[in-house]
Amino acid sequence: MGEKLLIDSLEGVVTKRPPFWFMRQAGRYLPEYRELRSRTGGFIDLCLNRAASTEVTLQPIKRFDPDAAILFSDILIVPYGLGMSVRFEEGIGPILDAVYDRRGVDKLSLNKSWSRIESTYETVASVKSQLEPNKALIGFSGSPWTVATYMVEGKSSKDYATVKGWAYRDREGFGRLIDLLTVATIKHLSAQVDAGADVIKIFDTWAGVLSPEEFRRWVIEPSVKICAELKLRYPGVKIIGFPKGVGIGYVDYVRNVGVDGVAIDTSVSPVWAAEFLQGEVTVQGNLDPIVLIEGGDKMIEQAQQIRENLQEGPFIFNLGHGVLPSTPVENLIKLAKYLKAPLL
Ligand code: CP3
Repeated sequence: MGEKLLIDSLEGVVTKRPPFWFMRQAGRYLPEYRELRSRTGGFIDLCLNRAASTEVTLQPIKRFDPDAAILFSDILIVPYGLGMSVRFEEGIGPILDAVYDRRGVDKLSLNKSWSRIESTYETVASVKSQLEPNKALIGFSGSPWTVATYMVEGKSSKDYATVKGWAYRDREGFGRLIDLLTVATIKHLSAQVDAGADVIKIFDTWAGVLSPEEFRRWVIEPSVKICAELKLRYPGVKIIGFPKGVGIGYVDYVRNVGVDGVAIDTSVSPVWAAEFLQGEVTVQGNLDPIVLIEGGDKMIEQAQQIRENLQEGPFIFNLGHGVLPSTPVENLIKLAKYLKAPLL
């Protein structure tokens, strides 16, 4: 057994208690985040400021002692490194200068603007040097598909009509964007591993908007390439995939991609995941972030149910999606305390 519970679990070990961490464990629900954010300029500036992003990464560790820290950054740092303009508007979300054809893809570069994002790797190294040895450090990226949705739509979308339309109309042209993002993702993740990340998570928040065939082409195929290349370069690195909202598509994903763990959203039941996914990979999930806002006995009951159904196999406790800004900090502290105790 190793030093880090999260790594043991991703190696397929059924650990004495499930390791836990929370998606978006650093962020606006924490007063100390809001305070630091208010004096650090824009959100991208915060992500690229080594000292500030190190501090933010460590804020939740100090608050509730989870088994892992996740680098504080964003999936849209990669398009920024490819030369796009990316900004975050209060109350709206990300705004990018959209790419919607081959000419747009040809303007992007893997080298020209990459230095803009290299401070990210210094943050990884700086967090690593301050993290206790029993905690894993998670680096991450978006998947090529999910990052492409923002690059092509230019913002968060309701129907994904522009990006899906391009993918249907011009498979080769859109494929070029996905190929470029696949290479960029491998580059970004490799640099994080070189800097000290123990685990990599690939966020595929919008995988669920694709039909099964499109899911195979734009999510599974690039994810296979990313995992194969990372495993080749770093045989010890652990990879968690999060193809959110794909329902039974999770089975296709875990059988083909080569991840060590899969994160499930709240639409999938733990009983189903135990039966159909846990034989293949470690399962991570899946408390509803809204239950975390409510707190109280309901939250503990639901957490207990998830544990009972998944902890006989390799399992990491987490949420089905990120912590929401209105979540009371006390609820996370209470949940963390419960997760450290033996099962009731
Ligand atoms: O604690 C952590 O989980 C690490 C940091 C992290 C952030 N974003 C910080 C963030 C991670 C892993 C992400 C991933 C991310 N970013 C995803 C995939 C996971 C998911 O949540 O589905 C996506 C789709 C994005 C893109 C993104 N970033 C959007 C659409 C927005 C705006 C919406 C929002 O929540 O404000 C962001 C901004 C963002 N990323 C914030 C944080 C803490 C809020 C920014 C702020 O402080 O104003």
